[in-house]
Amino acid sequence: MKKAIIVLGSSNSEGETYKMVKFVHQKTNFPVVDLKTKNILEFDYEFKNSKDDFLPLIEEIVTNYTLIIFATPVYWYAMSGILKTFFDRFSDCLKTRKDLGRKLRGMEMAVISCGHDKELKKGFQMPFKESANYLGMNYLTDVHCWIRNEEISETVKENLNTFIEKIK
Ligand SMILES: Cc1cc2nc3c(=O)[nH]c(=O)nc-3n(C[C@H](O)[C@H](O)[C@H](O)COP(=O)(O)O)c2cc1C
Repeated sequence: MKKAIIVLGSSNSEGETYKMVKFVHQKTNFPVVDLKTKNILEFDYEFKNSKDDFLPLIEEIVTNYTLIIFATPVYWYAMSGILKTFFDRFSDCLKTRKDLGRKLRGMEMAVISCGHDKELKKGFQMPFKESANYLGMNYLTDVHCWIRNEEISETVKENLNTFIEKIK
């Protein structure tokens, strides 16, 4: 098993994306960090946000894990705002905390998305893939999920199982 952490970026800590995260967690035991419980502010050019929860969290991640699994709902055809704010803060690791940026190099990234629609619009994964590329991370794979009547369908379960096999 890889040393992986799941970063949940939903506006609902116990919502539909969380259900997918729980499924993966139950099968892998990968820990989950819920960005909604963290105080992570928008990127600031003057780095006045450096005392919020971002730097301790990313430091913990780069020190203890080799794979980051981002889990996001699809909000308006894109990743959630909470997760995008987290991504914007990667810039802190390229400017004031280059030591952390260097540790991201060689790490792996995977993505779980959860939307109402069964299919993602073209380009949804581009910001993840390009960010991984820019940061020197290896983009492993992704899985798209959807939910109907509050239950995870057999198809989605199969897709999640295939995803787990690829990231283990
Ligand atoms: C603000 C907002 C925007 C959404 N936009 C989309 C969308 O563009 N495409 C889609 O398939 N579903 C969209 N949805 C539906 C959610 O992606 C879907 O219900 C998802 O399972 C919610 O996960 P959550 O409970 O973790 O928030 C949107 C929902 C919200 C609240």
